[in-house]
Amino acid sequence: RFRDASEASKRVAHEIARLIRQRASENRRCVLGLATGSTPIRVYRELVRMHREENLSFFNVVTFNLDEYFPIKPESPQSYHRFMNENLFNHVDIIRSNVHIPSGTVPLENAPGYCRDYEDLILKFGGIDLQLLGIGRTGHIGFNEPGSTRDTLTRMVRLDSLTRKDAAKDFGELDRVPLLAITMGVDTIMQSKRIRLLAFGEHKARIVQQALQNRMSSALPASYLRQHPDMQYLVDGAAASCLP
Ligand code: F6R
Repeated sequence: RFRDASEASKRVAHEIARLIRQRASENRRCVLGLATGSTPIRVYRELVRMHREENLSFFNVVTFNLDEYFPIKPESPQSYHRFMNENLFNHVDIIRSNVHIPSGTVPLENAPGYCRDYEDLILKFGGIDLQLLGIGRTGHIGFNEPGSTRDTLTRMVRLDSLTRKDAAKDFGELDRVPLLAITMGVDTIMQSKRIRLLAFGEHKARIVQQALQNRMSSALPASYLRQHPDMQYLVDGAAASCLP
């Protein structure tokens, strides 16, 4: 529990920076799982600041993003490709070929193979060292909406109507929000070595409480995170307001 979003975001950013530097000192890669949306923006801002002011290099960093809308062009203002470039990648020295974000343009019939390749690539890099997460009001992590079981892997999914409603402000109107997305699965996320979930604001209070206290089930995919051996929720006062 943190005083505010900025303090929690700095804590995670500093943990990420420590991990990157530790791996660099061992001549190893650091594999990060990244999220988009309003929640992680301050984490990326702090990482960019550390790159500029404290010599934090992303030279040894490999990234895998959780998800992308489908279909969507990478240059579209709402795409997660664009979000990541604008909030992080354009401002640091990451090697572009080390950046992985699910495609919003792969032909539909090739999507199953594409998703398998995404999983294989994560494994090829030795798995995700630290996965950053937000949580949706449906209880989704990535775009694993209610109904997503513990064993799900990267795949094409249908977005929940509440998720589409929450995204409507970004797209201008509900009809413009894509119906589908490609997302890492619950199992993909659970295989990460560390998981750090951020939740800020009153609108996240109920779902945070339910994710921590309801029975574990696919009705609330974030509830599975309780099984993970190195999982932390970092919340501000408002998001913690339904907790005991
Ligand atoms: C984004 C993602 C989603 C968001 C969640 C919360 O890559 O996977 O699960 O983390 O929808 O979104 P915000 O942070 O905008 O409240």
